Amino acid sequence: MAGVTGELTGLLPTNQSVITTAGLTKHYGSVHALTDLTVDVGPGVTGLVGANGAGKSTLIKILLGLLEPTSGSASVLGHDIEHASQEIRRLVGYMPEHDCLPPDVSASDFVVHMARMSGLGAAPARERAADVLRHVGLDEERYRPMGGYSTGMKQRAKLAQALVHDPHLVFLDEPTNGLDPAARTDMLRLVQRIGSDFGIAVLVTSHLLGELEQVSNHVIVLDGGRLLRSSATTDFLRRTGNLLVEVVGTETERDRLGEALAQRGLTCRPRGSMVAVDPPPPELAEAGAVHDVIRDVTAELGLGLMRLEPDHGHLEDVFLEGGAHV
Ligand SMILES: Nc1ncnc2c1ncn2[C@@H]1O[C@H](COP(=O)(O)OP(=O)(O)OP(=O)(O)O)[C@@H](O)[C@H]1O
Ligand SMILES: [Mg+2]
Repeated sequence: MAGVTGELTGLLPTNQSVITTAGLTKHYGSVHALTDLTVDVGPGVTGLVGANGAGKSTLIKILLGLLEPTSGSASVLGHDIEHASQEIRRLVGYMPEHDCLPPDVSASDFVVHMARMSGLGAAPARERAADVLRHVGLDEERYRPMGGYSTGMKQRAKLAQALVHDPHLVFLDEPTNGLDPAARTDMLRLVQRIGSDFGIAVLVTSHLLGELEQVSNHVIVLDGGRLLRSSATTDFLRRTGNLLVEVVGTETERDRLGEALAQRGLTCRPRGSMVAVDPPPPELAEAGAVHDVIRDVTAELGLGLMRLEPDHGHLEDVFLEGGAHV
């Protein structure tokens, strides 16, 4: 898609605010969807995380001018949401969370139509639609009616229409929803490339913290409509002092490794497909000693060592910690 968005690369200075909100509040009757939200979003990929009902989609719809806030203010790319929602929608792409695709229309026709709606002529619209559909990975199937698409194909078509008019910022509302693990990884890679290769700012939502830690520079956590935390992803991931070890094979191999390491005086526990090794006892604390033990034990058991790395902790820990660290 270089031809479509390449000219946008580096468009946003790195210190410029892309979104700012001040005391943003939205009540639906007695439901408090957002409460006094004050955040600042910069360029790059920002993850917006929260459980179902946390207020993620409400925030996006307010920023797009589709919903009016009960109180508070916000600006998007320097434009006030109250006075410039049309200009904001010209500059912003939106991938809604729910299926919004007409079933009888092909992705190709749909994305061309969306490009025409945003003001492109017939020929450039066709060209950009083809580029963007190729970029999101919809090939021959783009000529088939979207009613017959899998969830993964629908998500790709929704992403393509959000990008077709060369936006400066995209809102991606749960782009991985309903996808299997492989399709999820592909979609996350696409999201990352939108931010890194094309210089488009991204606000992407998910209720899975773990997947956003892979692609976001910055993470905002909402809890019940309130800001729980907003910080650089690297600040979320601090070293725990543990080591994570992964070997080729099944849980049986993992457990054999854990038992053998325990016999050498290390405290271990299973962590998914890996073994987490606690900080070593004093006799093994010298530099590299634990790594040597792990290497030797793995070799003695005839296991293939796939990964040996520090455990940086996970974003999930933020909810366990609770409290606002803004
Ligand atoms: N039109 C509406 N009328 C009444 N309540 C609403 C409306 N839209 C959202 N809400 C409520 O506002 C709260 C926030 O909803 P919102 O859709 O913003 O959450 P979300 O974080 O996007 O959740 P999800 O992960 O399920 O998409 C929820 O309690 C929801 O029930
Ligand atoms: Mg939502």
